Amino acid sequence: MALVRKNMRAAILCLVGGASTVWAGVENYNPTGQGCLDPDGFLSCYATQVDLATSCATDCTATNVAGSQTLSLCLTGCNGAQLAGNLGCWVQSCWNQLYSCENQLATISYFDGNDLVQNPDVFPWFPPPSDAVDGACSCNLGYVEGNMTIFLATPNFNQPCENVALQGDPAASAECSCCEFSFPVSNILNICPTSDLSVLGMSDYIEHTQGLISASGDGCAILNDGNQDSCLNTYGYSFSGDKVFNPLSLPSGIPGSDPLTNNPGNAFTDFGASAFTLNLFPGFTSTITPVPFNAKAGAATGTVSASAVTTGTGSAIQVATGTVARGSSATGSATGTATGTATGTATRSVTGTAAATTSKSAAGGRNGVNEGLALAAVMLLASSSMFSNL
Ligand SMILES: *[C@@H]1O[C@H](CO)[C@@H](O)[C@H](O)[C@H]1NC(C)=O
Repeated sequence: MALVRKNMRAAILCLVGGASTVWAGVENYNPTGQGCLDPDGFLSCYATQVDLATSCATDCTATNVAGSQTLSLCLTGCNGAQLAGNLGCWVQSCWNQLYSCENQLATISYFDGNDLVQNPDVFPWFPPPSDAVDGACSCNLGYVEGNMTIFLATPNFNQPCENVALQGDPAASAECSCCEFSFPVSNILNICPTSDLSVLGMSDYIEHTQGLISASGDGCAILNDGNQDSCLNTYGYSFSGDKVFNPLSLPSGIPGSDPLTNNPGNAFTDFGASAFTLNLFPGFTSTITPVPFNAKAGAATGTVSASAVTTGTGSAIQVATGTVARGSSATGSATGTATGTATGTATRSVTGTAAATTSKSAAGGRNGVNEGLALAAVMLLASSSMFSNL
């Protein structure tokens, strides 16, 4: 994450210098809208987010002193709102693919770019459930990122090992560290042992973890007894899945290099509500009318190629506490707690109309519907006032 954030700042500097708006994580991971219900609407929605971010940045530079902290916060807010707006495009035009690799990358970028700790209550389709199959990514990237950042989201993550350290036994301390820092790696490798996770900085993450446990004199032998209960019973760190992976001695071929792909089909064939209100930090609010289901639908099945989204070793500074309700009574709200203060206020509004007004029969609809999602056609990007939470 740290790396991405650095890149983002560099990009912002470029922007201030007059370059075009290319910020970290804002790229469209499904650049042709393949398999979306409304590919054209999807692409034009993404383009609209670029325009909004550009005028937002122009406002920032017009109203803040060059090089100031407030300018930098203002620009960060533009970037954050663009990342949120991109997710709105998925809900509007590509909700059949909300479990795809591409959408998961967009969602991870949203959290990462806003310095938010991943939280399943913020964007209701993320992470996909563990039994998601149709139209779902070959690897649950939400779980990968969730484990990479689990220490940020878990209060007192370090407490058990601090308690052990107080006892003054270095070997026990090292053993505890083996459990503490290895279980997220192991959890990731249990669900996606052969996937190429470079887009999430997996090799850096493993290297970073190896550094954290390198003090172990026995190469983290506690991880080699094939029984995750050792770490759980002794130190309280729980491993998921059947196998324990020791980051100091990974089997060859793991982590793997299989490209990320989507399963065929659609995660959803019925949105289940005619409108959806998406509220996301930082102050993004949009009442979205999802397009109807139609025969164009179907997850993009090519391999996913994207530049690195996160590096997985940074630290988020905010905890997303928002909740977004599903279905017809969608009245979500998301609030973040920022550590900085900003004085600038950027307000933007746009109204767009999208295609179809009639619902089509689900001609291409293959798979049963899971959650309630809905139909129809327009995205009203209402007003998104940045910094309302800052
Ligand atoms: C970590 O990965 C496991 C699968 O091995 C998953 O069940 C769990 O939800 C993930 N944790 C987070 C916080 O994403």
